[in-house]
Amino acid sequence: MSIVTSKEMFKKAYEGGYAIGAFNVNNMEIIQGITEAAIEEKAPLILQVSSGARKYAKHAYLMKLIEAAIIDAEESAGFDLPICVHLDHGDTFELCKSCIDGGFSSVMIDGSHHSFEDNIKLTRQVVEYAHDHGVVVEGELGRLAGIEDAVNVSAEDASYTRPDEVEEFVAKTGVDSLAIAIGTSHGAYKFTAAQCTRNEKGILVPPPLRFDILEEVTKRLPGFPIVLHGSSSVPQDFVKMINENGGKMPDAVGIPEEQLREAARSAVCKINIDSDLRLAMTGSIRKYFCEHPDHFDPRQYLKPARANIKEIVKHKLVNVLGCAGKA
Ligand code: G3H
Ligand code: 13P
Ligand code: ZN
Repeated sequence: MSIVTSKEMFKKAYEGGYAIGAFNVNNMEIIQGITEAAIEEKAPLILQVSSGARKYAKHAYLMKLIEAAIIDAEESAGFDLPICVHLDHGDTFELCKSCIDGGFSSVMIDGSHHSFEDNIKLTRQVVEYAHDHGVVVEGELGRLAGIEDAVNVSAEDASYTRPDEVEEFVAKTGVDSLAIAIGTSHGAYKFTAAQCTRNEKGILVPPPLRFDILEEVTKRLPGFPIVLHGSSSVPQDFVKMINENGGKMPDAVGIPEEQLREAARSAVCKINIDSDLRLAMTGSIRKYFCEHPDHFDPRQYLKPARANIKEIVKHKLVNVLGCAGKA
């Protein structure tokens, strides 16, 4: 099996009432943790690369590591692991073109910070080039709050997707999937304390996702795959592990997993998760350093980090996305 597009994955996910996990990758241990989980759970997979990840690790390294994961799946488990390699938050035509020319099977063009008309124009340009090369495209309408290296959106500048814009956007651009803003947010601090209530344990409870907007979008685009960004749940176990081992992440809060499970049963076919893996990796390494202050071999502290990434991805595939056994 080589790298595949998400077309078939989304069709099956839509009909089957589950979503595909799109996990961000930056290095070998992250790729191994995610793909080992997908192999064990027989789950289709999207590995996504941000422009920052591409700058950090370089395109060729990431492609070769992903190809190695496909070979490993075949050799170690006799399993054809379907992997879609996706550009996360592409912001220019040139970046999308470079990823398409370099072997990605899917790109996102994030024109959500442009006017509606300019977003359509830019997205259309990427779709024409991508489709000519057998590559699929994700567009975005609405703006999520939060920080990524390409986009930094304050809570005031965030805006929900307007359902009355989606049909025109999809028809004029020809995109294959659409990311919408219904209250998710990037990073580990998705909401301020003022936006949340607190439960009996004093943990912040975020405002619920706007399922009414999702429903309205689905009515206007029947059968069309929807994408949710900013969908980490910020597991409190890992936040605690970080804070108990020298870290400082007070009031980190994410999207409750039951709400993501509900979204996965609907038209949402792709759910993006990055921060949860970062928390798993950072918590594991911090804990290891505190417990073994005399160790200095990177393999020693990266091993539990990779194992915890694998565990959290398995949990997402089985309990949140519902895509285990669907490959
Ligand atoms: O949504 C963005 C992803 O979490 C990637 O983050 O741009 O820092 O690599 P990054
Ligand atoms: P999180 O920060 O919630 O993991 O979102 C990741 C994402 O949307 C990548 O595009
Ligand atoms: Zn995102």
